[in-house]
Amino acid sequence: MTTLLLHLSDVDEAGWARRYAEALPGVTVVRQSDSFDPAAIDYIFVWKPKPTAFDGLANLKAVLSLGAGVDALLKHPALPDLPIVRFVDSDLTQRMTDYVVAQVSFHQRLGTRFKRDQAARRWTQLYPPAASETTVGVMGLGELGSDAVSKLRALGFTVVGWSRSPKSIEGVETFAADGLDDFLARTDILVCLLPLTPATTGILDYRLFRKLRRQLDGGPVIVNAARGGHQVEADIVRALGDGTLGAASLDVFEAEPLPADSPLWALDNAYLTPHIAAISNVEAGVRYFSRIIVEHEAGKPLPNVVDRGRGY
Ligand code: NDP
Ligand code: OXD
Repeated sequence: MTTLLLHLSDVDEAGWARRYAEALPGVTVVRQSDSFDPAAIDYIFVWKPKPTAFDGLANLKAVLSLGAGVDALLKHPALPDLPIVRFVDSDLTQRMTDYVVAQVSFHQRLGTRFKRDQAARRWTQLYPPAASETTVGVMGLGELGSDAVSKLRALGFTVVGWSRSPKSIEGVETFAADGLDDFLARTDILVCLLPLTPATTGILDYRLFRKLRRQLDGGPVIVNAARGGHQVEADIVRALGDGTLGAASLDVFEAEPLPADSPLWALDNAYLTPHIAAISNVEAGVRYFSRIIVEHEAGKPLPNVVDRGRGY
């Protein structure tokens, strides 16, 4: 009989196990605290696995990642050399697009400017630019980035995109790896939806911020909903203070939870959320991975397998 092991930290593992057991009547579902034979495990479903998570799993067929991002998993010291399937789902994508659209629209409508005017009881009728007069630059044109691009386009924004390999998206000017500076020079609001890899670590730094277009009232804006490792927080604080950036919406941080003494908390042009842009929903996750297990057991290939060479 097929056996699925759940090894989740910081999330309701018992709740996921209950839902998996309901969805997979032909599969034995065990949790990390249960007593089980490690050699009987076929699949392991992980989030923030402990160092011992893979011990003794001699007959494992695949690693299933609750997270869409696998940067931390790829650094696991005992990660077996097996396919890793990451979470890709329309529910997750929709939630991320909700976040991106909310932040981008707020900044295009000069939210920081009017918040400051309100605090100062100041009536200044400054008309925000139209969406079409505002260029949103999306870094990462994968599952999440491509959906954000199409929804932002539908709202009338001018959108440019940047990815590792060249892309062709109707109505969107796209740039590949070596076109980064040209991409930044067109961008008023920069949205980061990149995976965290050695090539993208620390990419959101002061040097990059200085390359953004300075057309939006108050200065260019960054929105990071990918990983805290993409951003140099000391540079963001400096840029928000000296006007290099007008505002920043950050859902992810170098250290999570964000330490209480981080200067970001106190900045009125920083909009912070605690890594909640797009959580993997239990119903959607169980539906997605249950289907994958059933189909793989029937001989079908695994979808959305991480390319370890690329790091995402
Ligand atoms: P995908 O793998 O589908 O897409 C990644 C995109 O980034 C691709 O377009 C890829 O280019 C591009 N890219 C990768 N490396 C580079 C590089 N060096 N230079 C330029 N472009 C690059 O990922 P997803 O869209 O599914 O997810 C993106 C990230 O979002 C995840 O890795 C995760 O960290 C984060 N995330 C955050 C959540 C949150 O709640 N805050 C929730 C879910 C995900 P190419 O197309 O050429 O391969
Ligand atoms: C993810 C996340 O990668 O929640 O799915 O950040």
